[in-house]
Amino acid sequence: MTDLYAVIGNPVAHSQSPHIHRMFAQALGEDIEYGLVLGHPGRFFEDVREFRQSGGRGLNVTVPFKLNAFSYATRRSERATGAGAVNTLKFDGDDVFGDNTDGAGLVRDVRDGCGFTIEDARVLLMGAGGAARGALLPLLAERPARIAIVNRTVAKAEALATGFARHAAGVALRGGAYDDVAGDAFDLVINATSASLADALPPLPPNVFARGALAYDMVYGARARSFIAYALAQGAGRAVDGLGMLVEQAAESFFLWRGVRPATGPVLAALRARDAEVAR
Ligand code: ATR
Repeated sequence: MTDLYAVIGNPVAHSQSPHIHRMFAQALGEDIEYGLVLGHPGRFFEDVREFRQSGGRGLNVTVPFKLNAFSYATRRSERATGAGAVNTLKFDGDDVFGDNTDGAGLVRDVRDGCGFTIEDARVLLMGAGGAARGALLPLLAERPARIAIVNRTVAKAEALATGFARHAAGVALRGGAYDDVAGDAFDLVINATSASLADALPPLPPNVFARGALAYDMVYGARARSFIAYALAQGAGRAVDGLGMLVEQAAESFFLWRGVRPATGPVLAALRARDAEVAR
């Protein structure tokens, strides 16, 4: 019988995940089906139970259910525990394994997709919500020289830095305000705020981009355009959106479910080509 997977979210119709996972499955000759499940707020557990009863083997979980998925899991990976949220569920009999592949997807895209070495780099992480939190353990594991977390609500950035201090051996990890990094230079500047969704820019002081710095927005497509333009105007060497992260986190989920790792390059190229076609 064909194994069944899906992404659950609300809204979910816009999700690129079915397209991405079908391309992975086709390239690897894996016999899977991948669909969409519209989750109902307040009924997440029932929705997932129904999906499992119909033969579901795994779910990707998106807004607003990542915390529900965390509670639903009977076991969790260290990176899911660190993130405090689950974006991938794997079902095996009664066992429900919860993972979070977002941060690993970010790191893999920065490292392999952009060819950027995080080790010994100076990293500025903007934002202290779920997206920033999910990125921290995988970023720390790459051993950068420093990570400065900055956030509009300063206490949240400070709390994140304190909370992750025990994972930060050898990395100067600090949380604070945007103004605190005035005069500092960073090799990698990550926008993990949701500002881009409202077409706003985080209040960065000028000149934080070191020569040749990589600017990375976790959102993709048109929504990343203002930050990318701002970063390039401020002296970043390169600025990219988060489409590569989206594909990499999907590949990481696929690997968890199927035990084989899909090639991400051709899938990312196909998505970029489709976007260019739509924009024409
Ligand atoms: P997510 O799960 O996407 O991280 P979130 O948990 O709601 O979403 O967090 C959103 C993050 O974007 C927060 O760090 C938020 O800053 P505050 O904690 O001060 O609210 C940040 N953010 C949202 N809009 C912003 C803006 N216009 N400028 C700067 N930061 C912004």
